[in-house]
Amino acid sequence: MNIDELKTTARAIVAAQKGILAADESGPTIKKRLDAIKVEASEENRRRYREILFTSAGIEQYIGGVILYDETLRQSASDGTPFAELLTRRGIMPGIKVDKGVSALALHPGEKITEGLDGLRERLLEYKQLGAKFAKWRAVIEIDEHDIPSPYAIRANAHALARYAALCQEAGIVPIVEPEVLMDGSHTIERCAAVTSSVLKFVFAELDAHGVALEGILLKPNMVIAGIKCAQQATVQQVADATMHCLTSSVPAAVPGIVFLSGGQSAEDATDHLNAMNMQVAHPWQVSFSYGRALQSPVLAAWKGQEDNVALAQETFFRRCQLNGLARDGKYTRAMEGDSVA
Ligand code: 13P
Repeated sequence: MNIDELKTTARAIVAAQKGILAADESGPTIKKRLDAIKVEASEENRRRYREILFTSAGIEQYIGGVILYDETLRQSASDGTPFAELLTRRGIMPGIKVDKGVSALALHPGEKITEGLDGLRERLLEYKQLGAKFAKWRAVIEIDEHDIPSPYAIRANAHALARYAALCQEAGIVPIVEPEVLMDGSHTIERCAAVTSSVLKFVFAELDAHGVALEGILLKPNMVIAGIKCAQQATVQQVADATMHCLTSSVPAAVPGIVFLSGGQSAEDATDHLNAMNMQVAHPWQVSFSYGRALQSPVLAAWKGQEDNVALAQETFFRRCQLNGLARDGKYTRAMEGDSVA
């Protein structure tokens, strides 16, 4: 393992003002996004939409990496340039989602395990040749009113994440380790804090057991937040305080960056929460973003599948990247929403 190369890649992705665009929606998920704006989810429309994102002017100032889906990594811009090459030329690292989604965890009704370890070593070699510098694996942890998540489901998912991370580092690819505690449900912020803290402790114990070098990973956690159906929603400050408290007690300082998922928060909330965390006293890691929906929802709404709207969609995307870039420095305010592109 060339740890220096992994460290350099990880740090470049979360350099000052920068974060990650998660554009790795699987076939069914991108279909859902395109259906919502009444655009047929053909291969060409999927390609065209990703091209709009990747060719937006100025985004390289705020986007250090883009996570791609297998199909997208093999696609090219209209001028024939492969997406991975287009991004690399712009100084943006191409990454790849390598998990194969979730299935039911045997004997644990209601719980999930992420699949995709079989053949992963070989797939990573191919992805590396196609230009991928980093990878992503998402574990999903649900919370219910009773006994979910079970310690076994947490342990099984942490183990799979660590096996994936070790294989990535062996291949010279930076693993994004993503244990997502879902915000679906009616649980309180306190329950989310307790579960997230337990998940992170299991994850770092397994990473250690597997010999993964923490300097060469990025952690992609959920924020600590009340369930979407909880009557008692937390303030921006409470989310920032609870999240930082949880991470400070669970995430070793050797990890170069924490890149949050947005998980179903609005674009504005995701930016505001990130900003509030970066206004707090110095923390040992870069605190950044790896948003899917919180970066893309406003872009899809602006584009609507119409060529006439491409310029507006790209300006909207740039602005969302810029606001999150400002949030990396604690310099975002809600009043900036609605301002024109600076
Ligand atoms: P969201 O920001 O939409 O949660 O997506 C991030 C992601 O990559 C989930 O795996």
